[in-house]
Amino acid sequence: MPVTVVILAAGQGKRMRSDLPKVLQPLAGRPLLAHVLERAPGLEPAAIHVVYGHGADQLRTAFGEEDLRWCLQTEQLGTGHAVAQALPGVPDDHNVLVLFGDVPLIRVATLRTLSARAESADLVLLTASLPDPTGYGRILRDAGGRVVGIVEEKDATDEQRRISETNAGVMIAGAGQLRRWIASLSNDNAQGEYYLPDVVAMAVAEGASVAAIKIDDSEEVLGINDKSELAAAERSLQQARARELMNAGATLADPARVDVRGRVTVDGDVFIDVGAVFEGEVELARGVRIGPNCTIRDSRLGPDCVVHANTVMDGVTAGASCVLGPFAHLRPGTELAERVKVGNFVEIKNSHIGSGTKISHLSYVGDATVGKDVNIGAGTITCNYDGVSKHRTTIGDNASIGSGVMLVAPVEVGEAATIGAGSTISKDAPGATLTVARSRQVEISGWRGPGKEPR
Ligand code: UD1
Ligand code: CA
Repeated sequence: MPVTVVILAAGQGKRMRSDLPKVLQPLAGRPLLAHVLERAPGLEPAAIHVVYGHGADQLRTAFGEEDLRWCLQTEQLGTGHAVAQALPGVPDDHNVLVLFGDVPLIRVATLRTLSARAESADLVLLTASLPDPTGYGRILRDAGGRVVGIVEEKDATDEQRRISETNAGVMIAGAGQLRRWIASLSNDNAQGEYYLPDVVAMAVAEGASVAAIKIDDSEEVLGINDKSELAAAERSLQQARARELMNAGATLADPARVDVRGRVTVDGDVFIDVGAVFEGEVELARGVRIGPNCTIRDSRLGPDCVVHANTVMDGVTAGASCVLGPFAHLRPGTELAERVKVGNFVEIKNSHIGSGTKISHLSYVGDATVGKDVNIGAGTITCNYDGVSKHRTTIGDNASIGSGVMLVAPVEVGEAATIGAGSTISKDAPGATLTVARSRQVEISGWRGPGKEPR
């Protein structure tokens, strides 16, 4: 049977105490809803409906590009009412798989199991026994162990609250039947809402076949309602990512102190020290070593690169055996060839740096093309911005730039040129020549400083 996915994402998430709607709260750097959406295609659904309401504009902006059917729920009258907003667009002969936008860790394999089971049952729900079931709907079973209904925490008796088996919120049923059941939901309950889980008791009363799939991995069904649950899900996800990194051959100084907010691919013998944050797509080749407290986004590091502590990089490609940091800041468009050395308090952006070149201390290199085996002394700056436009600096192979040099772009320094320390270079400097552009030192003998006696 074709499957249509309906994702409930209209709630505000009051318990988050945030202006950002709950399903846009970031988990591993991406909105909760993005995690749920990422799973849906694994079921090859006929369509994906998103029921939205709170933060409507923010949601449409964040996910406008995706092939989704947006169903507006103007008032949040409960999860049953939310599903009702999507049903008019679903043919009777489809199965409807309901996912919650705040249950992001559910595995595709679990969803497939559910969907397969739905071929021979009228309604299938997902349950899990939780060590602390507080806040979740509890699964009610009869003496024979058959599911007979779900009771929400707020409506439950003390005895029912002691049940540890909970409703994960994931449910699948034929669209025709679901439509009928939802139409007869009542909101006569503690929260005055139309509860989706109430369809379970209706199905049982009708004699429909109801199946419950109970899973062991309770982290998979974590529902995220507040910041503590968000943090718990983050830890759970990061632990899994750390395991993946180690399985791929990375040595982690502490698997609890690495954060992957995107995707990292590693080759063998990679070492990652504590406090690493990876964002976007990061590739670390064999033998790369990352020092403590580095943030690395959308970058590719070649074999045996060493990144020392507190280095921040974004949009960098580096060839083999580069040595970066400590405290280097490499910004988008930084391309380092092989064996480049970038030292402390050096900022580079939109520049190509040739192999063997050293920029060891306190420099800014922006919009530059720097050749091979160049040495750039401490405190050198490419003055690339005239207040309106950016201009390029070009430095030839084997050039030697002294300390404290201002390279006023557009400007070109020839091959094997030497630039004297403290120069302000505003015209091209020829190759194989010493260029010095600073005022001559003067000596004024017998000069008397204010208020001081001559010696
Ligand atoms: C819900 C279930 C509970 C289950 C738990 C699992 C109900 C009544 N309760 O409780 O049995 O154990 O999830 O995590 O279903 N939403 C809408 N429109 C609404 C109301 C909610 O789109 O009118 C969305 C929310 O944005 C959220 C999801 O539905 O993504 C679940 O709603 P929430 O209020 O978080 O339900 P829980 O109290 O967690
Ligand atoms: Ca919830």
